Amino acid sequence: MDATIVSKMQKHYPVLLNEIISIISPQYGGTFIDCTFGQGGYTKKILEFQNTRVIAFDRDIDSKQKADQIKKTFEDRFIFKNIKFSQLNNLKLKKENVKGIIFDLGYSYTQIKDPHKGLSFESSGNLNMRLGLNNYSAEDVINKLNEKELGNIFKFFGEESESKYIARNIIKERIKKKIDTQNLVKIIDKTKRKKNFKVHSATKVFQALRILVNKEISELIYGLIGAAKVLKKDGILAVVTFHSLEDKIVKYFFKSLSEKKSISRYVPITKQSETLFKLIKKKVIVPSSQELKENLSSRSAKLRYVIKKKNFYDFETDILDKFEKLIEIENYGKKL
Ligand SMILES: C[S@@+](CC[C@H](N)C(=O)[O-])C[C@H]1O[C@@H](n2cnc3c(N)ncnc32)[C@H](O)[C@@H]1O
Repeated sequence: MDATIVSKMQKHYPVLLNEIISIISPQYGGTFIDCTFGQGGYTKKILEFQNTRVIAFDRDIDSKQKADQIKKTFEDRFIFKNIKFSQLNNLKLKKENVKGIIFDLGYSYTQIKDPHKGLSFESSGNLNMRLGLNNYSAEDVINKLNEKELGNIFKFFGEESESKYIARNIIKERIKKKIDTQNLVKIIDKTKRKKNFKVHSATKVFQALRILVNKEISELIYGLIGAAKVLKKDGILAVVTFHSLEDKIVKYFFKSLSEKKSISRYVPITKQSETLFKLIKKKVIVPSSQELKENLSSRSAKLRYVIKKKNFYDFETDILDKFEKLIEIENYGKKL
């Protein structure tokens, strides 16, 4: 969900739900993995179809309350775990006949509105941004990393064009006092020369901090790798993204494992090894005008999906090299 527009909504609205259901086809039964359980919107819908089973997880322990409610109705067909994408491999799912895996990235309405999580620039009080199972908070990042590191975080994770000046002013201010959410918003607002009146000036910096604190880059990469391993032949991997970095990663992962690479120009491509995935639609699927009317915050959602063509468990991918720079920046957090 887009963290910038939530004020008019009252509850979490599962984004692109009809499209996800028509892609994964739970009417034929099978085991599905919901990697972003959240408020259980996708899980509940899948479980309404007979002969389905859902293994769901979420890093936010607050999701467990919703999971416990669902468990009461679907006791034998539903499992919930409080883990992260990067722990998917530990679930020992090799023997499960997994027909579909879904990721709905971003945050639920409940998380954005939770003042303790401090995800939004509208929150009061401490900078936090931890969704759960984290090692450090946004307060640690802003108050402890150096000027160059902060600048890189805002530039690469937020695509903020005035990243250097914002980082410089944070360093100046934090000598005087510890920076909380509202101080940070003021520093950004005072620093930014180029103002866009449609988008709040703190949007990009807050996006960058959420990405760093929750290690969104490596979590997504290891989540995709883990999912591609456990999925069975003909199974579907579907991902809904909300910002351009996530979408770039998913697009690259799908495309690079769907295309036959030329090993040698002397070996015809048709004789070269099979690819892992079949990419069904090159274009992304976006919310319908009806969905946008009902839930404006779905406007940045993009859905991509692939079908696994082989029962391979092991495969090679260069995705970690491809996004090396972003991972290097994410690793600044190791010092905290
Ligand atoms: C947009 S919400 C999902 C909403 C859900 N589809 C629904 O219909 O209620 C995204 C969820 O993913 C979870 N999440 C984000 N990153 C995660 C990670 N690395 N590992 C596990 N869960 C994660 C968040 O805590 C959040 O609850």
